[in-house]
Amino acid sequence: MTTIQNRVALVTGANKGIGKAIARGLAQRGLTVFLGARNRERGEAAAEELKAVGDVRFVPIDVTDADSVANAKRVIEAEAGRLDVLINNAGIGAAPGSRFHTPQEETAENLRAVYETNVFAIVTVTNALLPLLLKSDAARIVNVTSKRGSLGEEGAWVGQPNMTYSSSKTALNAITVHYARSLAGTSVKVNGAAPGHVATDFNGFRGTRTPEQGAEVAIRLAELDSDGPSGLVFEDDRQLAW
Ligand SMILES: NC(=O)c1ccc[n+]([C@@H]2O[C@H](COP(=O)([O-])OP(=O)(O)OC[C@H]3O[C@@H](n4cnc5c(N)ncnc54)[C@H](OP(=O)(O)O)[C@@H]3O)[C@@H](O)[C@H]2O)c1
Repeated sequence: MTTIQNRVALVTGANKGIGKAIARGLAQRGLTVFLGARNRERGEAAAEELKAVGDVRFVPIDVTDADSVANAKRVIEAEAGRLDVLINNAGIGAAPGSRFHTPQEETAENLRAVYETNVFAIVTVTNALLPLLLKSDAARIVNVTSKRGSLGEEGAWVGQPNMTYSSSKTALNAITVHYARSLAGTSVKVNGAAPGHVATDFNGFRGTRTPEQGAEVAIRLAELDSDGPSGLVFEDDRQLAW
């Protein structure tokens, strides 16, 4: 078992919901956690609360803003020198002011807005942080995805129509595989974590799981041994089909 004592993590979108629960869980396990949030007030408040459980530090990061991402990298480099765990958690369900649409109702503009956060930003953040991750002897990248993104998964289409969100997570799953393959010769493992239906702002708190339950799979993937998988997507212990 790889020890995660004294390891360093960044969780994006960690001021609330699943991201905050992941940050709490990693801090409880002894990691130094950079709690990423785009809003300073909300981020500082969450980090302050989590300081009760461990070494949690607010870092401002808007994942869609390359300058903000570069600044977060500089902060982590200055304070910690490397990164062992990157949790790409920040995500949105629909374009601002929009909602879930059927494909026929949807606009390219809405699709682009959701992809900016759920897809394009993953590349911005991951590439910016990779130099720090490559300094780790056992780096883990966890992309927080959704069962709705798994095209081959039974039951993934239940509920409201949501082509935009679902397909953004399908693209995220594909990106996860590409990074995993590309980094196969390094100490970096890249996997997707589907949290299940979690009660957060994201769904008006209609989810059936707590944020802590939703965080478990991401925390497990952040703790993978060197013989653990890379390039797969899990909900709990179960590998999701494409
Ligand atoms: N809840 C579920 O049932 C469920 C199921 C499957 C997957 N997921 C995934 O789980 C992840 C977390 O969702 P959640 O349920 O915890 O939702 P949430 O409570 O709405 O939290 C989303 C977080 O992402 C942040 N965020 C959004 N855009 C951002 C940006 N451009 N830069 C930085 N942070 C940004 C939000 O910050 P602000 O507070 O500033 O808006 C917030 O901290 C998402 O990727 C979501 O797709 C959730």
